[in-house]
Amino acid sequence: MSEQPFNGNANKPGEAQQKNEVSNLALHDKEMRDIAEPYEFPGAGPKWFYLFVVVSLVIAAFYLGRHMGKLDASAHIGFLEKGAQTVAAEASSPAAAAPAGDTIFTGKCASCHQATGQGVPGVFPPLVKSEYVLGNPDRLISIILRGLSGPVEVEGATYNGVMPAWAGQMNDQEVLAVINYIRTRLGENKAEEIKLEDVSRVRKETDGRAEPWTAEALKAEYS
Ligand code: HEC
Repeated sequence: MSEQPFNGNANKPGEAQQKNEVSNLALHDKEMRDIAEPYEFPGAGPKWFYLFVVVSLVIAAFYLGRHMGKLDASAHIGFLEKGAQTVAAEASSPAAAAPAGDTIFTGKCASCHQATGQGVPGVFPPLVKSEYVLGNPDRLISIILRGLSGPVEVEGATYNGVMPAWAGQMNDQEVLAVINYIRTRLGENKAEEIKLEDVSRVRKETDGRAEPWTAEALKAEYS
């Protein structure tokens, strides 16, 4: 049988149709192959990365759980207990709830007279071994309440500065506490304590004094 150039052979229509269909299917096959496979969006990243993140989180959570300590209120119990103990100690001591003299000293006096109470040569007189601190209690209370200015001799050196009055900044309890601190516990100072009544009395006695004391005026008043 000679070759047919075309599919127009009317004698074998079925065969021709079959051929056509086969070639059409083949075409479709090709077409189907050309359609891209569904693929993951590149931005989503590789799977091993997600695995890595999850494993890291698990390890981190485990680590924190083991080593972080506690994040609950019991962490403060140490402080609360300490506070309660201090309060109890203060309540049972004679000066109930009295402010701490050393704290007041650090906050209000040490900037000039220094934490050691040694002062600064030529500028701020020392409180340690000072006759003004260890001597006449009324005079000392008076200096703290009303201030001091002008030339004053302390421990053999002369100072000429101004010390502010503290009457407006401290109540009698606080004045008492800081004075008892500098008289009995600062450096080598060992004088007797003063009493709250003394502070109240001196405050009244010096009520009208608007100017700071001078060394002269102190001498005349409290010889
Ligand atoms: C701003 C600086 C300053 C501060 C703060 C200060 N003082 Fe003074 N104080 C002085 C100066 C300056 C003198 C000397 C004044 C003069 O030259 O007349 C002095 C003198 C004194 C004196 C008599 C002199 C002596 O050395 O004994 C006493 C006591 C004293 N101060 C106690 C205190 C106490 C207690 C406090 C805290 C409550 C305090 N001062 C805070 C500057 C200060």
